[in-house]
This record gives sequence, structure tokens and C-alpha cells, in this order.
Amino acid sequence: MKFIYTDKIKRIIARDSKVIMTTTRGDVPFVASHGDGDFVYDVSGNKFIDFSSFISVYNFGVNASKQARDAAKRQMDKLSHAAFTDYYAEEPVTFAENVLKMFPDGFGRIFFSNSGTEANEAAIKYAKIFTKRQYVMAFYGAFHGRTMGSLSLTASKVAHREHFGPFSAAVHTPYAYCYRCPFGKEYPSCGMACVDYIKKYTLGREVSGKEVAAMFVEPVQGEGGYIVPPKEFILGIKEIAQDNGMLFVSDEVQAGYFRAGKFLALDNFGVKADIYTMAKAVGAGLPMGITVVRKSLGDVPEGAHSNTFGGNLVAVAAADAQLKYVMKNKASIEDQARRKGRYMLARLEEMKEKYEIVGDVRGLGMMIAIEFVKDKKSKDPSPKGRDDVTVEAFNNGLLMLPTGFSSLRIIPPITINQKNLEEGMDILEDAIKKVNFGMQKQKS
Ligand SMILES: Cc1ncc(COP(=O)(O)O)c(C=O)c1O
Repeated sequence: MKFIYTDKIKRIIARDSKVIMTTTRGDVPFVASHGDGDFVYDVSGNKFIDFSSFISVYNFGVNASKQARDAAKRQMDKLSHAAFTDYYAEEPVTFAENVLKMFPDGFGRIFFSNSGTEANEAAIKYAKIFTKRQYVMAFYGAFHGRTMGSLSLTASKVAHREHFGPFSAAVHTPYAYCYRCPFGKEYPSCGMACVDYIKKYTLGREVSGKEVAAMFVEPVQGEGGYIVPPKEFILGIKEIAQDNGMLFVSDEVQAGYFRAGKFLALDNFGVKADIYTMAKAVGAGLPMGITVVRKSLGDVPEGAHSNTFGGNLVAVAAADAQLKYVMKNKASIEDQARRKGRYMLARLEEMKEKYEIVGDVRGLGMMIAIEFVKDKKSKDPSPKGRDDVTVEAFNNGLLMLPTGFSSLRIIPPITINQKNLEEGMDILEDAIKKVNFGMQKQKS
């Protein structure tokens, strides 16, 4: 599966660069054509094992859910859009009823949007209107989206925020990024200094807890580098939110929908939120965001929040068909995420032992990453090492995505066949071995 960089690929990329605004494209010239289960193909027939799930959207394989595709096609022929936020339609109501069965008792009500950032915008507005408080709180490393409200919460890279302020009232505080503890401590002897910091400094010196409408948290930080916090961190911050009357919002846009092993990533920590946001995998490849609100919070006045495309009938048809598959196969999906996630982490632990540039390996369920460093002792981040590994693996038929400053996500479909998973891990290891050798040779 050696990648062939054809003239056709080069021509499309050249045309793209003339008409498309710059976004977040990385180093690999992947020009999509189609997918088939665990594999994706480019326009020149190059075949790749998919370790990206196209940013954790196809959690069950590219086009794997035939029911979702068929349902979307049927609905497309019938009616694709019904102005669901102004009129009524049965399909979004049925989907809402079904999706609520996946949530804890007491949930609630759903708002439909088209993306993760919109799901979070809605959550910010709901939190403010329910509490009549002005501030929101989030964590360094957080990524909650790029529209202005969500961007106020996002703090994973300065490039996301530079020139875009002023933002709406938000405060940030350190996340439990234990590999690079902001306090220079080690877990568990740290005594959860990051939780204490919120009490002593964020709420002690910067903002009154009584003015904070909600605390937004990713149960596993996604764009921040796939950071898995200790359980005590989530328990500690939840307690702070509760003690101060803040709502607790779990941003499950990336970690949810089984990526971190359970439908709700927050369930891994035994904690419940007041509002959950989801997107990415929910729409089975079609744009859909959902904001799910605890019933006891009540409702908002008419006109306070709405949109045009929320509850789009084609997106709902695909999402509901996928959900039926998910409900039927929940135990198997959870088991696969656990089993395959364990296998992947075990392989990565071996690689960490063998290769100097592998600084940290971590993950929950099948939300897994490697953090690359110049060397283990200094822990200096090596974005170059990460990028070189990504390109080398790509050239050998493996598609992956970066995250954080020097990390690489490894997020195949949860349903990936074990043989394809092993082959993908072999390609990854070969790439790491080659880049590691090159970097060590350069040093000597
Ligand atoms: C945790 C999290 N929240 C929100 C978003 C924003 O989602 P979208 O790109 O659909 O607006 C993302 C996107 O990566 C995300 O990972």
C-alpha cells in the first residue's frame, strides 16, 4: 500500500489552495474519494487503513452503517429540510426520544444544531439564562469550538484566539495534564494541586464562584493532546461546580459516542453533568450537534435560542438509523473499545520502551495518542518527530491526525477488524522506528 503522489492529487491540491480559505490542513496530501469499512481511498486509488475516523466521526467505520446511508437516501427523496425549529416534524422528535434513552434519568430536552461549536454555543447560552450569571469557566488545553462564544472557552492554542478578542466573560484554569504537570508535581503525590488551584486562585482571586454560570470540561481533552485526567480531578472539579451553584457541562463532542469507551465519556468517571454536548459521530457522517439539558433546569423563553437547520431531516434519518444499530450493539461496541483500546495501549507501551522519541502514550477506550519528544529526559516536545511519523505512515498506507503540540491521535473505527488494526499498528511502529533512528543518528 505504498502511496503514489499522482499529478491528479497535485492538481486538486493546487486548485484548492487558490479558492479555499486556509483551515487546519496538516502534512499529508490525502484527497478523499470513498471509504469501505476500515479503509479509505483517495482519488487516485491509494488505499489507507483509517486510523482517523475522519476526526472521530465514523466511529463505526467509513460508510459501515448501511442502514444510516439507506435511511438518509430515503429521507432525501421525501423531504430534506422542514424548518424544524419553526414548524413540527415527527422524525426529529423520534430521534430525540431515542437518543434520550442513552442519557441518565432526568434528561431532558435536546437542542439540535449542525456542529460541535454550535452545540457548545447553545450550552453557554442555556447556562447563562438558567443561572442569570455572566461568566463561564474552562480549562487550559480545552477545545470547545471556534465560534465566538465557544472560542471564549477554547484555550488549547494561541493561534485559535489571536486577533479574535475580546471574548465573552470566561476564566481558565489548569487541567490535569499529568505528563506535563503545570505545577511540576507528580500524580498521585501532587494531592490534586490543579483542583486546589481553582479554589485558591481562580475562585479565590479572579472571579466569584457565584458569578460563574457553568464549568465546561472535556472528560478527555481532545484537541489539547488527548489528555486523560485522573478520576479525582473530575470528581474534584464537579464538587467545586456543585458547591458554587455552577452548572457542569460535559463537552462530549470528541470523547463521546463510545470513542472513550462509553456512550458518555463522563460515565468513565462516575459523574453526571447538567448539560451534555455532542456532535462529530452523532450524525453518522452528516452534520449534527446536540445539546442535552437536564429536565429539572426547565426550558427557555421562545426566541431565546434557535436556528435554521437544526433537526435537518436527512441528518436526523442517518443519526436515528445509526442510533438503532448502536442501541442493539451497545455491549459489543463497549467491549470492542475496551479490548482493542487495551491492545493498542499495550503495543504503544512497548514502543515507548524501545524508542526515545515516544515520550508518553495514553488513552481511554479507543481515544488514544502518542506524545512525541526530542528525548525522554528533557521531554522537549517534538512536533517534527510527530509530523515525520505521520507522513512516513501515510506513505505506507495509514491515515492519522495530529493533536496538541506534538501528539498523534490513533483513532480507528471502534469496529475495526483486529487484523486491520494489527496491520495499522505495524505500519505505525515501522514509521516510528525509522524516524527515531533518523533523529538519534542526527544527534550522534
Ligand atoms: C471537544 C470538542 N468540542 C467542540 C468541537 C468543535 O466541533 P466542530 O468542529 O464540529 O464545531 C470539537 C472539534 O474538534 C471538539 O473536539
